[in-house]
Amino acid sequence: MHFTKKAAIASSLLLGQASAALQPIVMKGTKFFYSNGTQFYMNGIAYQQDSAAGGASTGSTKYLDPLADEKACARDVPFLKALRTNTIRTYAIDPTQNHDACMKLLDDAGIYVISDLSEPALSINRDDPLWDVDLLDRYTKVVDALAPYSNVIGFFAGNEVTNNASNTDASAFVKAAVRDTKAHIKKNWPERWLGVGYATNDDADIRDPMAAYFNCGDQEMAIDYWGYNIYSWCGESTFEKSGYSTQVENFRNYSVPVFFAEYGCNVPNGAAARIWQETGALYSDKMTDVFSGGIVYMYFQEENDYGIVKINGNAAVTQKDFAPLATAMASIKPSSVAMDSYTPTNQPQACPEIQKNWKVKGDSLPPTPNKSTCDCMFNSLSCAPASDLTAREYPEIFGFICGADKKACAGISADTESGVYGAYSMCNAKQKLGYVLDAYYKNQGNAKDACDFKGKAVLAKSASVPDNCKSALASASSVNSIAATATSGSGTSGGGSGSGSGSGKKDNSAAGPMRSLFTLGDVAVGLYALVAMGVGAGVVLL
Ligand SMILES: *[C@@H]1O[C@H](CO)[C@@H](O)[C@H](O)[C@H]1NC(C)=O
Ligand SMILES: *[C@@H]1O[C@H](CO)[C@@H](O)[C@H](O)[C@H]1NC(C)=O
Ligand SMILES: *[C@@H]1O[C@H](CO)[C@@H](O)[C@H](O)[C@H]1NC(C)=O
Ligand SMILES: *[C@@H]1O[C@H](CO)[C@@H](O)[C@H](O)[C@H]1NC(C)=O
Repeated sequence: MHFTKKAAIASSLLLGQASAALQPIVMKGTKFFYSNGTQFYMNGIAYQQDSAAGGASTGSTKYLDPLADEKACARDVPFLKALRTNTIRTYAIDPTQNHDACMKLLDDAGIYVISDLSEPALSINRDDPLWDVDLLDRYTKVVDALAPYSNVIGFFAGNEVTNNASNTDASAFVKAAVRDTKAHIKKNWPERWLGVGYATNDDADIRDPMAAYFNCGDQEMAIDYWGYNIYSWCGESTFEKSGYSTQVENFRNYSVPVFFAEYGCNVPNGAAARIWQETGALYSDKMTDVFSGGIVYMYFQEENDYGIVKINGNAAVTQKDFAPLATAMASIKPSSVAMDSYTPTNQPQACPEIQKNWKVKGDSLPPTPNKSTCDCMFNSLSCAPASDLTAREYPEIFGFICGADKKACAGISADTESGVYGAYSMCNAKQKLGYVLDAYYKNQGNAKDACDFKGKAVLAKSASVPDNCKSALASASSVNSIAATATSGSGTSGGGSGSGSGSGKKDNSAAGPMRSLFTLGDVAVGLYALVAMGVGAGVVLL
């Protein structure tokens, strides 16, 4: 990782010599600024072909890195410029690719980048949420790939992950991702500001608690900005009729920047008929007190019919709504305040209480993934998965053990409503399986046949625990005994029975694997393996 970072810095310095690199954007209170103190509004456009945003699963694990294709960038940047774009949003970049050429083309055109951290096969899945070592690894690699470029504003830790009242638990894992990504930036890129935010859909049932949740509490764990995906202004409308006025009031007291992370309603007559009235509204005085601009969805015309440019062979062909957007962008004149004369007054929101539409405890987050702690644990097991065991076979074993011996699963459990998380809930699926096999075996008094499962589990020679593992294992063990107590205490209360989705989870305290097994069937088991393992589990899905 060090090598990468140094090489990346070196390459950005070289770029810096070739042209004056754009000044980094910074955040103060609810606003963005250029480093020179002039206020910055996002004039954005989403820029990714076949975008499969995180949070959902499309069944496809392929993605095209839009910042790694110099020819495409060279083709498209003039069109972005014609729209006065100063920001593009990318949804999935490949940290192993070289981004110098595209980043320089963008930089020369005055264009910044804000990027999602996930990719289709490695994202926080709303139906089976996790925050684990594989996801942290993916997120930090994306940060390290983009941080060297001064024209990067920051990141989204998730996109529409929690999207209605049935999956609010997923937000706990996204907020843990925010916390750990921010910590990584602070430690590895201390010389500059880079934001970590969240992009959300708008669901009236959860709007208030969710916005409060991501903004509340210790600001080292809270989002730096809130991106709203809003499609409520369609064709001809007004500030009031579109609901924009309500959004302005909702966020007037928010303490960090808010902007539209996607906008551009395509009904009733398709993308081509868009007239971009809402663009004028977004940058008018009615909104600029509260909103910092927005990102048009999107550049590429595809099947979903949201594009302003269609790629035909190697050529980019502007669509009918391109010229109106260029006109709208040319006529915006958002009023601005200088950084020095702006004194933020808003305070972070209070964390939301547990309620019908919010099942996440405010002040308790899933643990930080730590590969070395998981390795320590796995190497210390007396009973471990057989070496040829495949991920497909895990759910059955999780299902058996967590059903028969709840306490054995407490160390990998995650209960967002009580805020109790097992210390190993952040390990990968194989490590978690090893943990429950071992715990079950020990709870059965080390009976030989308690470590078998038809040859799927094997007794391991117990090696002595290395010194560097001792304290990590001891503290995990104390976390897990608290989790075990909490688990056994809540089992009989039937507390989650108010909503259909809550009850199943409450009983299956080993939320992750158990839920896949019992409530979602085979496809979800495949999904679980895909998300948890980061393996090429497309095979499982297809
Ligand atoms: C700061 O930089 C921006 C972007 O280059 C520029 O538009 C603005 O005029 C600059 N402001 C000052 C005070 O120099
Ligand atoms: C919530 O969203 C999920 C995933 O998009 C969907 O399957 C489910 O039907 C939705 N539930 C409600 C109550 O809208
Ligand atoms: C915003 O804060 C002001 C002052 O504290 C308060 O009077 C107002 O009710 C708040 N508005 C919302 C929507 O919370
Ligand atoms: C991970 O755990 C090890 C002990 O296993 C500890 O030394 C290290 O500091 C932890 N890393 C992080 C990033 O917390």
